[in-house]
Amino acid sequence: MKMRAAVLLEAGRSKPYANSTPVAVTEVDLDPPGPGEVLVEMKAAGVCHSDLSVVNGTRKRPVPIVLGHEAAGIIAEVGPGVSSVKPGDHIVFIFAASCGHCEPCLSGRPGICEPGTLANAEGRLLNGDKRLSLDGKPISHQSGVSCFAEYAVASEHSVIKIDKSLPLDEAALFSCAVITGVGAVLNTAQVKPGATVGVVGLGGVGLNALLAAKMIGAKRIIAIDLLDSKLALARQLGATDTFNANDPDCVAAMREATGGGTEYTFEAAGTVEAMNIAYNVTRRGGTTVSSGLSHPDHNAAINHLTMVAEERTLKGSYMGSCVPVRDIPRYIQLYQQGLLPVDRLLSERIKLADINAAFDKLDRGETIRQVIVF
Ligand SMILES: NC(=O)c1ccc[n+]([C@@H]2O[C@H](COP(=O)([O-])OP(=O)(O)OC[C@H]3O[C@@H](n4cnc5c(N)ncnc54)[C@H](O)[C@@H]3O)[C@@H](O)[C@H]2O)c1
Ligand SMILES: [Zn+2]
Ligand SMILES: [Zn+2]
Repeated sequence: MKMRAAVLLEAGRSKPYANSTPVAVTEVDLDPPGPGEVLVEMKAAGVCHSDLSVVNGTRKRPVPIVLGHEAAGIIAEVGPGVSSVKPGDHIVFIFAASCGHCEPCLSGRPGICEPGTLANAEGRLLNGDKRLSLDGKPISHQSGVSCFAEYAVASEHSVIKIDKSLPLDEAALFSCAVITGVGAVLNTAQVKPGATVGVVGLGGVGLNALLAAKMIGAKRIIAIDLLDSKLALARQLGATDTFNANDPDCVAAMREATGGGTEYTFEAAGTVEAMNIAYNVTRRGGTTVSSGLSHPDHNAAINHLTMVAEERTLKGSYMGSCVPVRDIPRYIQLYQQGLLPVDRLLSERIKLADINAAFDKLDRGETIRQVIVF
């Protein structure tokens, strides 16, 4: 079938993207779903920093590629052998499809599935195929999803059925920002009530971590960003203390304010600078969790002695260490009970045609989650 999609033609073009237009909104071809695949009619897609990182070249992906990995939609058609969903079901996408058979999958860690990770790096669906093309030439899929398009064909392991009571523009946030930020707190770190928590980087991911820390009863929530506007929003959402990372004394000030540092600190900016702040503000015996996706050539240097002598823990967190089929319904329920007000992070609804300007806004930190509505 023919459909409109946002195709990244080339990574690393100059800013502003509204002028250099790295992404073309154009008609492309989409093959029907094969065995184990589904056709989804897109309803809403969030713009995440991981998409921006493909546009600016931080995250290398084969171009041309249809961007987008955070979305909700309705199943339009299913391929042979699909049993988990049927036409008419509402779904959210997950950006790490899992095979169910590799060592991480068998260990209950589907987010780091080995074939799923390889397929994402190569811009393919889980089974190795590409269903997108333009003038007969294949186009890559982003994270097995490619939701900046009117339709998507994806593995059935890339979608999770959700309750129809949830509006699909809100549902889209659960697909990446919520599971990543909330999951980092509840799954990766397993923060305890009464803990002192720090969050470095207050975008869609970091603010979800903040909401989760508030929900489980953190005593102090320290929020850190480069932008005062983000600090102000963090205070509205429950941060007890805020610090601007541009201040060279911010780490010392945070350690002083918390009587020795935070017990759990979440890095959600995707830079080595933010990672250093997160590690250095974590107290003795504490845990630093990093969700940010830095450039693959950038290495963070951790002080070896403090890690050992202070019994410090450093953890990576991909997809919030979630088991999506278990966690997405749980987090939706917490939202519907009013405990996790993630709708506060839906900044604006935009059109697919606005995508280049949307990347400029995200890059400048002027927004949290912009959601493309179809
Ligand atoms: N681990 C995962 O599964 C996963 C999933 C989604 C996103 N990500 C990554 O998480 C990161 C955040 O994504 P997002 O969509 O929330 O991004 P975002 O652009 O909405 O927010 C990032 C925030 O970090 C702030 N920041 C940048 N440098 C900083 C510094 N040195 N100190 C303090 N704050 C700083 C920015 O001002 C911004 O407010 C990105 O790297 C993204 O690729 C990871
Ligand atoms: Zn994302
Ligand atoms: Zn697997």
